[in-house]
Order: sequence, then structure tokens, then C-alpha cells
Amino acid sequence: MTEHPPIPTAAHMAAMTPVESLSRSEAISELAWLASEIARLDQAYHGNDDPVVSDAVYDALWQRNRILEGRFPDLIRPDSPSQRIGASPLPTFAKVTHQTPMLSLDNAFSEQDVDDFLAKLRRFLNLDPEAEIAIWAGPKIDGLAISLRYENGRLALAATRGDGVTGENVTANIRGINSIPARLDADDIPDRIEIRGEIYMKRSAFETLNKARIAAGEKPFANPRNAAAGSVRQIDPTITAGRPLQFFPYGIGGIDRHFATSQSGLSKRLTALGFHPHAPARLCRSASEMLAFYQYMDRERTRIDFDIDGVVYKINRWDWQQRMGAVGRAPRWALAHKFAAEQAQTTVKEIDVQVGRTGILTPVARLEPVLVGGVNVTNATLHNEDEVARKDIRCGDRVIVQRAGDVIPQVVAVILKDRPADTLPYRMPQDCPVCHSPAIRLPGEAARRCSGGFACSAQTVERLKHFVSRNALDISGLGHTHIRAFWEKGLIKIPGDLFRLQEKDATIIAQEGWSRLSADNLYAAIETRREIDLDRLIYALGIPQVGQTTAKLLAKTYGSFINWRSAMMMLDHPESEIRADLLALDGVGSSLVDSLALFFRDPDHQALLDDLAAQLRIQDFVASSSNALLDGKTIVFTGSLDSMSRSEAKVAAESLGAKVVGTVSAKTDWVVTGANPGSKARKAVDLGVKTLNEQEWQNLLSGSR
Ligand code: IVH
Repeated sequence: MTEHPPIPTAAHMAAMTPVESLSRSEAISELAWLASEIARLDQAYHGNDDPVVSDAVYDALWQRNRILEGRFPDLIRPDSPSQRIGASPLPTFAKVTHQTPMLSLDNAFSEQDVDDFLAKLRRFLNLDPEAEIAIWAGPKIDGLAISLRYENGRLALAATRGDGVTGENVTANIRGINSIPARLDADDIPDRIEIRGEIYMKRSAFETLNKARIAAGEKPFANPRNAAAGSVRQIDPTITAGRPLQFFPYGIGGIDRHFATSQSGLSKRLTALGFHPHAPARLCRSASEMLAFYQYMDRERTRIDFDIDGVVYKINRWDWQQRMGAVGRAPRWALAHKFAAEQAQTTVKEIDVQVGRTGILTPVARLEPVLVGGVNVTNATLHNEDEVARKDIRCGDRVIVQRAGDVIPQVVAVILKDRPADTLPYRMPQDCPVCHSPAIRLPGEAARRCSGGFACSAQTVERLKHFVSRNALDISGLGHTHIRAFWEKGLIKIPGDLFRLQEKDATIIAQEGWSRLSADNLYAAIETRREIDLDRLIYALGIPQVGQTTAKLLAKTYGSFINWRSAMMMLDHPESEIRADLLALDGVGSSLVDSLALFFRDPDHQALLDDLAAQLRIQDFVASSSNALLDGKTIVFTGSLDSMSRSEAKVAAESLGAKVVGTVSAKTDWVVTGANPGSKARKAVDLGVKTLNEQEWQNLLSGSR
């Protein structure tokens, strides 16, 4: 190596010997070179405005270092860039917004859930309770979801699911997968279409891959799904291309009537275009046919060469799928019927207590590690003290544990005959194990809560973690360990402190693991979040019982931060109608209202909100597809409509920006009356509220679509 090494270029990187062919001694010298080279580039980056290399080359160096370390874990150097906590983030993929969101599925675990699903479909579509509905049933493949965008027939973009709205651009990697055509050969395909499906690895291929990894001294993958996900998220596309991946298409982004009119039609269409939707699937006409398919797949499961974790049911007709739409993150027209959870036996070593963001104490079993369905399980939640008492789980017990999909592992039961002689029943601590404030259990509640509030470090840190999490402020590069470390150093106590971190730059830089570059990256990431949507902010506050759906509902109801805040402060006021108005909203109950009132009563929370209001630019809520006629209107439905069910009418009204409530008051804008309307229609007349008959309601809807 020369004294002034040449600056690496993309051509230089491309010409490097593949990592698989490097000898140990070559790896030693290359790792030394990479450590000093990356450090030199970091130095150049912050000492100089002019970046020495392109981001792509910098990322490639990082990636090369990571792959080499993966192959030779014992050669990882203490000065390696990978060992610097909080150092510049690993190379990332560009963000991509999906044409329509990538949804997930609601789960069913029992036959009853399947019956309920069919009954709900019929009700929603206003069909006869006995009406036949064709349901497409197919396997639920356990891999990772991908969306492929074809433009004028050519594969233009491949993106991971991400949070459902935005994913990561993995196009270069996906091009190496054989079952994904680069071109769609047909004249009548839309100019732009997104094909959705699952990338997975066959079990046999996974076993061969793992054998090769073990032989090469690399860490084997835990299961085929991790192997598939790990293979797609490679910076170097040649690595992905070398992995035996498959693609199973199951849908398209958005509903395009010209492409196919049913789920079964879609499979035919996709086959004609060069895809392979060749897993077993069946068109069912009743619950018993659906269950027969489910049982058949459950039996076949071990014989099929890929992992499936259940069966997916979908309404076959696409016009019906469209009418049903989605609620939250899942379509109403589809259901995942999961196979029974996998179980194993192990021993409880200890029972610890964790303190959550709202102060709830959760007992957790620390287990002797055990493999359950291919995943190593070491902890299981015990939910609350009643649950531990009901199952009488004790330290030292042999227990049956289970996990289903991504669900947190659970203790199913104790194997009493194996209980050691000297065990004692578990006693939940009466004080918070972290801040030692009394832990109180209110009448009627299963949970015991730490009463320490802001004085409890566990609660505070958990709230801060929630505040920066993906569905809240979504601050990338600020992981749990950083939050804890910053909190311990006194750098952040309340959420607003995040936006003042840069003022503490000297302290941050002095901390181990932080460099000029990584600190600047963090400030930049935080800065982009000063502008925040109202619903995200409401969710980020972590008010008990306020999840994403409720946060959206509150944002939609009050529109702006100021409106919302002043309404919430009136909740305790005896003369205020705010409480009644809030309770009239669909999906709002008194315990939610109490929780909001309690939050706003606390002066610490008021200070926290003042601070955030000064730091942030909180964006008013904008309804997704509002319409001048319906937007902001309050509607009551009464009586039965012929053309649609009450639920469909409610969804249609809400999707156009209206608010649907259950009781008529002077604030109601319209009362829509179907057949046999009853007292609400009379009340509308008394109060002088405008009523619409079904035809007028239909006209209003069609005029706004
Ligand atoms: S349909 C809007 N069909 O399961 C419909 N999903 O738990 C969305 N999956 O994110 C998906 N096999 O990644 C569908 N035959 C199948 C599937 C399938 C596997 C995955 C998919 C989805 C997840 C939801």
C-alpha cells in the first residue's frame, strides 16, 4: 500500500476479488485497509465540505467490510467501523411510496372466526344471509412481501413492504430472481401496474444454503423466512442473485378492472404473463369448503417444500373487494386463517417484571432457551399477576410454550407432575422494580401500575422510545440504546429535548461511539421531523388507549392542534358538551375519554405540550379524499337502506370526510332515513335537521365520487 493510497472508485470496487475467494490472510489485510480507509473518508467528510468519494462507493466499502466480517467473524477488528456504536448508519435503501398501500391481513384462529367473516361480508354487501359468495382460498406463504412496478411492460421498480405506505427500493437485487419476469409480454396490460407477492426460499434450498454457510464459518439463518429477507436486503445484488429465491404473486396494487375481474382471473392472467402462481388454491362456495381446504393444507404442510403459516381467504369478485375496502391496515374482504401455534417444553429460570410506557408492570418468564417452530425462544410474556396465579407459574417449573407467527411467545401451561418440591407461588412486587414507587392496582383492572409517572425512569424512557418509533415521529438512527444512553446522561428528559440535542453537541460527540458524521446525521434526521402531521403527534404522545386509529379519529374531528388541545382541556368542565360530542363518535367509549381527561389534567403533560408546540410545526389534518358536500358534515343513519348495509354507508361517508354519529342533535347536519326509520327521524324533524331519503343519499354519494 502506498503512503497516499488512491481514492477508491466504483470501478475499483467492482474489480475487487469476490469475498468468497479471499484467503484468510488476504482477508486480514483487507479488513485492516477497510478500517483505515473508512476512517479516513469519515475524517475527510467532516474536515472538508467536499466529499472525497460518492455515497455509492462509501456504502460499498461499508458493505464489503460487513460481508468480510460475516465470513470471518473472528477477524473483526476493534477499530472496525462496524464496532462503533452510533457511527454512520449502515448503507440504506432509498424510500419508495407504493401506488396504493400494501395492506396486511386480519387473522382468524377458529372456525367461528371464519363463520363470522362470511356473515360480516354478507351484512356489509347487503346480501341474503344464505347467499352464496365465491371465496378464493390459497396458502399464506411465510416470506416477505414485495411490490413490483412494471412500466410499459418492463420491470421498473421493486420495493419491500416497509410500513405499508413507503418501502425500500430493492430493484437491483430483485432482478436476479428467476421467477420474476423482466418484461411482461402482452398488449393489453396497463402502462403502469404493481404486482404484489411473497418472496420466499424453499426449505430444501434453505438447508443447502445453511450447510454451505456453516462450512464457510458463517452464521446459519434461523429459518427460511429470515434467509429470504436477509438475502433481499443485501447492498450487493450479486449476493442476492446467488441465493435460491422464489416469487409467488398474490395480487396487484389497486384494483384494475381492465386487468382482471376476480382473484381467480388474476391468477390466470399472471400465469399468462410469465409468473408462477402455482401453489394449491381453490374456489370455495361455503364455510365448510373453506374449512376443508384449510384442513387439507394443514395436512399437506409438512410435505410442501416451503413454509406456510395458514390459509388466505379472499372474496373472489373484485367489484365486491372494492366495495368492502379496508379498515386500518387490513382489507375487509380477506382473512388469514392461521395454523395452530407450535409448542415446545422448557424450564422457567426466573420471573422478571418489566415496566411499560404507561407504567403497567408486566411479569416476564425468563426461559431455558428452546426452539419453537425454528425460532429460539428465551422469554415469554405472562401478561399480568392474575394470569400467573391462574396458571400457577413458578420459578423452576417445566412449562409448555408456544408461538404463532410474529406473536410474542406465551406460556400455555405448567407440567405439574414435573414441579420441583421446593417451589413457591409467584408474588407480584407491590413496588415498581425500577423507581420503587408504589405499584397500584385499581379496582376492576388486571394491571398493576407504577405510580411514579415522570419520576420513573423506565416509564420515561419507554415513552421517549414510543415518541421516536416508526408510526410516531419516525426518527431513524435513534435506537433504543441511544435513547437510554441520552436519558442517562441527562440529554433528553421530555420529547421536546430531542429538538435541542444539537445544543448539547459537545457532550454527544464526547460520548463513545459518536463521530462528527454520525451526530450530524442524527441532527439532520431529527430536523426533518419538525414538521409533523397532527395524527402522528397525537399517537406519539403515548396517551393510554390512544392507538393509531384513535389518533386519526381525534385529528380528523378537531382538525388542528390548537382545537384538539383546547377541547381536551374542557373534558373535565361540567358545562362543556365536548365530552358528550366525543362519546357520540363511533369507536369512542367512556374509558378512552377518561384517559384523555386524565392526561390533560397533569401539569407535567401541559408543560410537555407547550414545549412541543413551540418546537414543532404541527400540520392540520387533511382528509384523504374529502369532498365539498360531505367533508366535515355530521351524519346519522336510521332505518335500513336497500342498496347498501349500514356499515358500507358509514365507510362511504367517512371516506369522503364526514363524521358518522349515533344520536341526532342540533349539531347533526343530515339524517339519512331508510325503511322503518323510528324515533331518530322524528327527532330530526323536531330539531329542524335536514333529512335525506335513500335516493337523495345515493345522489349525494354518486355526485361526490
Ligand atoms: S394477500 C390486501 N395472499 O401475508 C391483501 N398475502 O399477514 C394482502 N401473504 O403482507 C395480502 N401469502 O406478505 C396475501 N396468498 C397470500 C399471501 C399473503 C402470504 C403475506 C403478505 C401479507 C401478509 C399478511
